[in-house]
Amino acid sequence: MPWKKSHLVAAVCIATCTSILTLSYLQRRKLSSMSMSEIKLCRGIPTNNTITPLRDNKTFIIAPYFDNRKNKMTRVIAIIHHKDIKELYCWFCHPSSGEIYISKAEIDVHPDRFDFPYGATDLHCPEPKDWEPHYVSIHWSPNGNIDHLPLFEIKNREPEGFPVEFTVCISTMFGEYNNVLQFVQSMEMYRILGVGRVVIYKNSCSTLMEKVLGFYIAEGVVEIIPWPIDSYLKVSSYWHHSMDPKDIGYYGQITALNDCIYRNMYKSKYVLLNDMDEIILSEKYPDWKTMMQDLQSQHPEAAVFLFENHIFPKTVFTPTHMFNISWNAVPGVNILQHVLREPDRKYIVNPQKMIVDPKKVVQTSVHSVLQAYGASIHVPMDVALVYHCRTPLQKNLSRRLLIKDTTLWRYNMSLIGNVSKVLNQIV
Ligand SMILES: *[C@@H]1O[C@H](CO)[C@@H](O)[C@H](O)[C@H]1NC(C)=O
Ligand SMILES: *[C@@H]1O[C@H](CO)[C@@H](O)[C@H](O)[C@H]1NC(C)=O
Ligand SMILES: *[C@@H]1O[C@H](CO)[C@@H](O)[C@H](O)[C@H]1NC(C)=O
Ligand SMILES: *[C@@H]1O[C@H](CO)[C@@H](O)[C@H](O)[C@H]1NC(C)=O
Ligand SMILES: *[C@@H]1O[C@H](CO)[C@@H](O)[C@H](O)[C@H]1NC(C)=O
Ligand SMILES: *[C@@H]1O[C@H](CO)[C@@H](O)[C@H](O)[C@H]1NC(C)=O
Repeated sequence: MPWKKSHLVAAVCIATCTSILTLSYLQRRKLSSMSMSEIKLCRGIPTNNTITPLRDNKTFIIAPYFDNRKNKMTRVIAIIHHKDIKELYCWFCHPSSGEIYISKAEIDVHPDRFDFPYGATDLHCPEPKDWEPHYVSIHWSPNGNIDHLPLFEIKNREPEGFPVEFTVCISTMFGEYNNVLQFVQSMEMYRILGVGRVVIYKNSCSTLMEKVLGFYIAEGVVEIIPWPIDSYLKVSSYWHHSMDPKDIGYYGQITALNDCIYRNMYKSKYVLLNDMDEIILSEKYPDWKTMMQDLQSQHPEAAVFLFENHIFPKTVFTPTHMFNISWNAVPGVNILQHVLREPDRKYIVNPQKMIVDPKKVVQTSVHSVLQAYGASIHVPMDVALVYHCRTPLQKNLSRRLLIKDTTLWRYNMSLIGNVSKVLNQIV
């Protein structure tokens, strides 16, 4: 939505103001004669929590990111009550002059809300024209005292760090997660396939799982983003409001995924959006790098690559005595035993998971990208698919109707060796 003149904010002045300048549609306050006490106007309350509730209890700030890909702005990833929150203001404070610049946020609630009252939201904050803010506060009013507002650091203004090739974003580990064996196997498969980092939005997990995460954090592979969303909102374990009428769907999964895209925009060439029980596996390529080199050269302008999800039921076993495995003491699913997949169903389109170029993505959902500077490409399953080991979708299918697909077994040697090495150090 374009900026509207009707959004003009009311001029506010405090005793120390000596001039008010109206710049384009926006208002700014400048302190021309400064004293030490006035500099303190910039303080705010710095916060680095992943989820920060505002005082209305209906706006939750995740993080602001600088975004100059189209219009120069601060894009704030948030969760809001879409009916009750209609007006928010972005407060920028100049660190040395104390100048305060307030702009009205354009509130962009993501369309994939699935009827829940709360949803992932982007706040588009126009920035001051002649200086670069490093912090922003969000407030329901253009009036007030910035000292009392939480202050958020604006990320991505100076892209930093050495980019890795692939980052996997795992949106929300919850429910005292304890599927240790499948987790370690997925992690080691990701590493074999070329992952540089795995970012996990963690709500809850078991004690053993904490130990496993600690191991991978120390290895520098895993980054944990605390995700205590259930401290603030009633969370649904389902994706649609009608299935479980709570405040927000699936532990705020969509918000976490969007935050993960922006968080890794300049840190990773590609970002994979999939769950812990999913692995993008190629029959044609030994790893993600060679696969993406080919796919990207076939589609240089593409922003998003979509891979079909295929279910390998964890209830259907295939013997693995030819492998030297001794992981009985470890809780969880051994994916090597699950190499039979469900056939496609008539009239049902398989959902997809994605590898995206984060620099080209604006807004993402779970199975598709909603807005991007580039096309979405469907990758045929003879190139690669999402190996998804979980409870069956087609429950009563006889075994002979399942399709044997042993792509995973090609990695048996390195996978078994690497997993055993990790488990020996943890369990
Ligand atoms: C958050 O800030 C506090 C105090 O400034 C610091 O101790 C803590 O390590 C920070 N946490 C993260 C995750 O940066
Ligand atoms: C917001 O939530 C907190 C904690 O649940 C509560 O103490 C406070 O009264 C609430 N504020 C409003 C304005 O509803
Ligand atoms: C099987 O694995 C164990 C350790 O996991 C190893 O000590 C043993 O030598 C292996 N046996 C064979 C036949 O490779
Ligand atoms: C599957 O089979 C069981 C028993 O054989 C039956 O009770 C159930 O209704 C069947 N479910 C479906 C979806 O066909
Ligand atoms: C296990 O991997 C090796 C090569 O790493 C391969 O030769 C062998 O066929 C694989 N085993 C199975 C059962 O696929
Ligand atoms: C996994 O195993 C392969 C083959 O044994 C090895 O080259 C690789 O370094 C291992 N990866 C890790 C992370 O240990």
